[in-house]
Order: sequence, then structure tokens, then C-alpha cells
Amino acid sequence: MQNFSETLINWYNANKRTLPWRTTKDPYCIWLSEIILQQTRVDQGLPYYLKFIELFPTVFHLANASEEEVLNAWKGLGYYSRARNLKKSAEIVVNDLNGIFPKNFKDLLSLKGVGEYTAAAVASFCYNEKVAVVDGNVYRVLARLYNLSTPIDTGVGKKEFKQLANELISEKDPATFNQAIMEFGALQCVPKNPSCSECPFVVECQAKRSNLLNQLPVKSKKIKRRNRYFNYLVISKNDSFAVEKRTGKDIWEQLFQFPLLESKQKLYDPYLIQKKAEETFGLKDDIMMEGDYKKHVLSHQDVYYAFWRTTSAGSLKFDFYEKKKLEELPFPKLLENYISNL
Ligand code: ADE
Repeated sequence: MQNFSETLINWYNANKRTLPWRTTKDPYCIWLSEIILQQTRVDQGLPYYLKFIELFPTVFHLANASEEEVLNAWKGLGYYSRARNLKKSAEIVVNDLNGIFPKNFKDLLSLKGVGEYTAAAVASFCYNEKVAVVDGNVYRVLARLYNLSTPIDTGVGKKEFKQLANELISEKDPATFNQAIMEFGALQCVPKNPSCSECPFVVECQAKRSNLLNQLPVKSKKIKRRNRYFNYLVISKNDSFAVEKRTGKDIWEQLFQFPLLESKQKLYDPYLIQKKAEETFGLKDDIMMEGDYKKHVLSHQDVYYAFWRTTSAGSLKFDFYEKKKLEELPFPKLLENYISNL
């Protein structure tokens, strides 16, 4: 396609959003914004970015913060390993690299949680390195423009799209090209009902010509959603409540929660919950359900959750905290809402 990058950059200059990470070349700010924006929409990520910059204005502030402070600031964004990797990478930069970020694509990859996408974004936006970013937006734009049906979730597909993006990237201005192609996917070449009549590539677009817009890009695997059923035991003793920390590879890893019994379906029989609570935690007290199950929607699962109340005098292995302390600990959003009404 003739002058693809020039047309794209012209489109970008006329249509781009003003975003705070676009007015800086500071690798700390760019890296932070890119980690936040992985798997997160700009309107959702923006307030978190502003909060992080305020709480941790430099990589030194982030490295010196406690993991709890960082997780607390991250609360509600999901995929918490991103927050833990942020903190680990900040420590690497401060302790091993004299506080100076790696300055090229290859060295950036050595940071925790920095994969090819993030390394390409930081290397191009900060140092104008000519290395193409390939994110969901880029897959969609290229799949449609070139009518590419190789599944994007396969090794072959990833390689093909990366190669094409690196052939198209602007020689003169890789940084703007990368911002532009992502912005083009986010604002113009959107997943549903793009307004092709306003698109600068409407004539060249192969998918438009073949009426395949809605079929591209192709994925080989359909991710099945699953339902989960969480029964939280709100065990009080005096003015305190039992909590545990989540472990293992699962949602909300390392966040706190009320002792949890997961079930295969909704349960309404207190005797059943009581039996499970005794088997699992040695809890012998009467338990009452509080309200009905509510639904919490995540990207790949629906979590149905209910609260079961009990007062315990027995000795249990849990830590007990007063409400005030609970409000300082990192809990998943749905529990935070519950705690504020305790
Ligand atoms: N999503 C990921 N990176 C982005 C960026 N730099 N600007 C807008 N959206 C993005």
C-alpha cells in the first residue's frame, strides 16, 4: 500500500485523543501507562495512571513502596500480577540499574512483566527505536486491510502480523506510527460497526471489499466463559472479622478475602455450608445466609458470590481484623464494597 504510514500519521494528527502519557518521553511514565493499559480500556486505565503518578511520581517511589500499597492502588484493575511485576521491575531498575531504565527493545525485555508489546512501546515512544507494536488493535487493522485470516492466537499468526507491522512502520517516525496504528484501531477500525465511509483506507481495505470485516481477525480458540460460585464466610469475633489471603494461580492472587468456600452451584442450605465450613476450617458455629447471590462479571468468568454470617467463639486459624484495618488491606472490589457497609 502506497504511503500507508504517511496516511496513517495524518489521520492520527487529526483524530488523536490527548492523553497524559503522550506528552512525555519519560520511560517510567510510558512503561507505567503501558502496563496499566494491557487488557484495560483507556477510559478505565486513565484514573489509575493519574493515581499512580501522584502516589509514586518516580521509579524510586515505586521501588520503595510496600507491595500492599501498590496492590491497594491497583485494586479494581484486575490481573494483579501486573501490579506485582511493576513493583519488581521498579526494584530492578533502582537496585541493579542505578535508577535508569533500559534504553532499547532487547534490554527492556529483561524487566518483569515486559513482553514484546511493552518493550516495543517503550523503546519506540521514548527512544524512537524502529520496532513495531502489535496489540489487539494492530491485529484487527492489519487483518482487515490485508484480508489476513491466519489465526492471531497461533505462533504462525503472531509471526506473520509482527513481520507485516515491521515492514509498514515509518522509517522517519516509528514512535508516532506505533501510537497512530493503535489509535486507529481504537477509534476508527473498531471491532463492531466501523464507519468505513470515513476511513482513509476504505478504497484499499481488502476486508471491506470482500465484505469480511466482521470475520476478521480470526482466532483459533474460542475462550469458554465459566461460572463460579463463591461462598464467603463472614466470621466475627468481638468487633473483628476473619480474613485469609488468596494463594495459587487464580483470580485475585495474593489479595485478601473472607474465608471462602467455592461450590459447583448456588447453595441455599445453611446446613450444607455449615458442614463444608466445619470440614474445611473446623468452624462449628451456626451460619446464616445474608441476602442472595450477586453476580460479578470478569473477562472470562462470572463469579456468583454470597455472604454467610456467623459469630465464632472457637479457636480458628484465621487472622481477625477490625473494619478499620480491613479497609486498609487489598481486597477484590466486590469485597471492598461489602466491607464499607459492614
Ligand atoms: N493502549 C495501549 N497503549 C496505548 C497508548 N499508548 N495510547 C492509547 N491506548 C493505548
